[in-house]
Amino acid sequence: MAQLLVTGGAGFIGSNFVHYAHQHTDHYITVLDKLTYAGNRESLAGLPEDRVSFVHGDVADAELVDKLVAGADSVVHYAAETHNDNSLDDPEPFLRTNLIGTFTLLEAVRKYGVRYHHISTDEVYGDLELDDPGRFTEASPYNPSSPYSSTKAGSDLLVRAWMRSYGVAATISNCSNNYGPYQHVEKFIPRQITNVLRGARPKLYGEGLNVRDWIHADDHSSAVLMILENGRIGETYLIGANGEKDNRTVVELILTIMGQPADAYDHVPDRTGHDLRYAIDATKLRDELGWRPRYPDFEQGLAATIEWYRDNESWWAPAKDATEAFYARLGQ
Ligand code: NAD
Ligand code: TYD
Repeated sequence: MAQLLVTGGAGFIGSNFVHYAHQHTDHYITVLDKLTYAGNRESLAGLPEDRVSFVHGDVADAELVDKLVAGADSVVHYAAETHNDNSLDDPEPFLRTNLIGTFTLLEAVRKYGVRYHHISTDEVYGDLELDDPGRFTEASPYNPSSPYSSTKAGSDLLVRAWMRSYGVAATISNCSNNYGPYQHVEKFIPRQITNVLRGARPKLYGEGLNVRDWIHADDHSSAVLMILENGRIGETYLIGANGEKDNRTVVELILTIMGQPADAYDHVPDRTGHDLRYAIDATKLRDELGWRPRYPDFEQGLAATIEWYRDNESWWAPAKDATEAFYARLGQ
């Protein structure tokens, strides 16, 4: 039974991964999470204490991280500040957690020779034109747009340097936009679903033509586990499930599934520097490791996600008012 340290395991994708790894492996999992506004212990409810333990702390706390990494066989690093709109409003926490936090973990895995997997985003590559036939590959140049994506890009580069200069045994994955249960209501899909559940209208930035490449969080988790177990050390793998949709289509789908007129949404001012389109070519992951998504049907996954938010109001309601107050201040 391997000891797995999962940072950011009380967040959206981290908690989905902890549930997934609990179900599909016999690893003992330690979650390290600072429980920022984005972390929620309720997302780990129901997991048995003899398999999953929780440590409340900061990935930038070198003493704590040293102690936890010393007892681990592998580290999967999800912890980050993750919301583009927050990063535009106040970039400082993004530099601290995404850069210093990653540096702190890298120093510890270097010291103890622990296997490290770094979770990153396709946003490090910047954006594509709407009519560009191309998609991101592992060879795409880094060209981040926002404080969020630039700090994620910086953290990826730290990992690459620690691999080359210190021989750290690491892999990196860059995934496209995730959806599914336990996602904070600040993000696009949960914000619109919970607006409708509260009788408010969805809010579309600008014209809503921007394209995101949606993947179910469980599919992200299965890919990460596969890379952790069978990925080649030193390699980067892109994770995506051919889920390109423009934002307007997603809002219309949400409204339709929820029994509302498809045009019952508002246009609000656009995000500054708003990336136009992300799209992932996951050929390397599919061909090398044989990975396949289990939720290729976005509409079905979206309907199940809507059901989850309908059934779990007590999970999301405490964060909803503060989130909408933030957007009201931005005029969005
Ligand atoms: P999230 O914001 O929902 O969760 C982040 C978690 O990290 C929270 O539990 C928070 O408490 C914790 N955290 C923040 N700062 C910390 C610190 N200093 N020390 C310890 N814990 C801290 O984020 P998410 O959407 O689940 O994203 C997780 C990871 O996946 C991030 O690295 C993100 O860049 C990456 N990613 C996200 C997406 C997406 O669509 N959400 C896509 C690709 C990659
Ligand atoms: P988001 O979930 O913030 O993810 P990211 O910025 O990492 O892609 O936003 C997804 C898309 O939805 C993005 O193009 C911005 C847009 N968006 C809206 O149109 N309305 C909203 O209320 C939010 C939060 C996002």
